[in-house]
Amino acid sequence: MRKPPLLSLSIKVGLMLFVVVAGALAIVYAAVVPQLESRVVDAKVAELRRSAPTVARRIGDQPNFFAQQSEVVGLGESLNLRVVLLAPLTEEQLVILVDSRGIESGGFSDNPLALRTMETRSPSSGRTSRAGGDFAEVAYPLEDGSVVVLSAPLGDALANVRLVRKSLLVAGAVALVISWFAGYLIAWSFTRRIRRLEGAAERLAGGDFETPVVDTGRDEIAQLADAFDSMRARLAVLDRARGEFIANASHELRTPLFSLGGFVELLADEDMDLEVRRDFLGEMRGQIERLTRLATDLLDLSRLDAGQLQVEEAPFDLAASARLVADEFRAIADAEDHELRVDAAVPVQALGDEQRVQQIARALVENALRHTPPGTPVDVAVEHRDGRAALEVRDAGPGIPVDEQGHVFQRFYRAAGGKAFGSGLGLAIARELAVRMGGSIQLESRPGETVFILLLPLAGEAAFSREAPPEAPEPVAGPTK
Ligand SMILES: Nc1ncnc2c1ncn2[C@@H]1O[C@H](COP(=O)(O)OP(=O)(O)OP(=O)(O)O)[C@@H](O)[C@H]1O
Ligand SMILES: [Mg+2]
Repeated sequence: MRKPPLLSLSIKVGLMLFVVVAGALAIVYAAVVPQLESRVVDAKVAELRRSAPTVARRIGDQPNFFAQQSEVVGLGESLNLRVVLLAPLTEEQLVILVDSRGIESGGFSDNPLALRTMETRSPSSGRTSRAGGDFAEVAYPLEDGSVVVLSAPLGDALANVRLVRKSLLVAGAVALVISWFAGYLIAWSFTRRIRRLEGAAERLAGGDFETPVVDTGRDEIAQLADAFDSMRARLAVLDRARGEFIANASHELRTPLFSLGGFVELLADEDMDLEVRRDFLGEMRGQIERLTRLATDLLDLSRLDAGQLQVEEAPFDLAASARLVADEFRAIADAEDHELRVDAAVPVQALGDEQRVQQIARALVENALRHTPPGTPVDVAVEHRDGRAALEVRDAGPGIPVDEQGHVFQRFYRAAGGKAFGSGLGLAIARELAVRMGGSIQLESRPGETVFILLLPLAGEAAFSREAPPEAPEPVAGPTK
């Protein structure tokens, strides 16, 4: 389900970037603006402190009050400062003796700096606020007990600080908007690609395995898209295989059913003589056998595919199994005039599922009897071979052409021109069973001879066999001349 837009990644990332930039700006603002202001004030105060001793000396050097008065006014004008000479009235009040800006400018009778200097007889400086605004001021004691105050307005300097503060705020607001928008755009470009992947996932879920998943980027999202596309390609193959399997299975089921239906129709004819009726029933039994066998094979395959087919891992005598299977086919071999020879007198202890091994042996012996002309011999042999237990089924039939050897282990594969009895599942199941037991089936064939060899781990040397497992289940094609 698609999320509501407010929770979308683009808005979230935009907001996150907004918050981060806002935080950074707040830190810069909190660190820079107050420092800037105090530096401006400190610089002004330091300037006044440098001038104060000279001013105090020059006033103190005057012989009388009138001379002092004109010196104060002169100094105020030359230094472009307000210079005020004060004398104590009470402990908490001062009286202005001379003010370079004229008495009317007032506001100095309770000047805190001057009062402190009066009390301590040492210079004091700082920032004071009065009705006229903010001032940097220095109070300096004179030897006669009076105090001179130098005062400079901070208005212009503070106005500059305010301008910087305002500019910072405006720039910050613009940066915030830009950062939010940039964050939104960047995240949007990612979410657009993620949405495309989401669309691809929905297509896959809907069964469309043909449309490729494409992302032209070179980052993790592109890697994810590649992984998606590999998955799509694999699913497409599996889907095709599934479709083919169902089509093949239905076809295989339909043929005997169709034939059975035909016989049932014919048998409805009451005038049919007994001999023909018996022949028909014989044919029908054959078709039912074929259907039963097909159903069992399909069930085995589906269990193998689902990983539900249990194969035991126990020691058993492969030679005894070979003899047993050969005996089962003795009658069929005789009927087709095949000489079925068995060379399995010496016990060979293999490790695997005895029943399933017999199923494999049946498939191989049956093929050797069915896909070869009557009268040709079939040899079954069991022996130790290269540290494995080997069951070999050799026939003297037409052989399997080299270009078909790779296909005979595929499901439903039957060689062109072969006998149409089977459904082409015998070898496919045999090979998968052998692989499940840690074994393999090899094929060596040339005109006039075909050999299928089932290789299994030896019972006593199971550990050795597991260390060096056999080749994986690829169709074993051993083109030999
Ligand atoms: N010994 C053999 N000699 C010649 N061709 C063979 C031999 N064994 C198998 N084949 C070819 O390989 C094909 C596949 O064999 P497989 O056993 O899988 O299927 P099948 O015998 O046709 O049917 P079934 O499912 O009944 O076994 C056969 O149809 C046949 O063409
Ligand atoms: Mg077969």
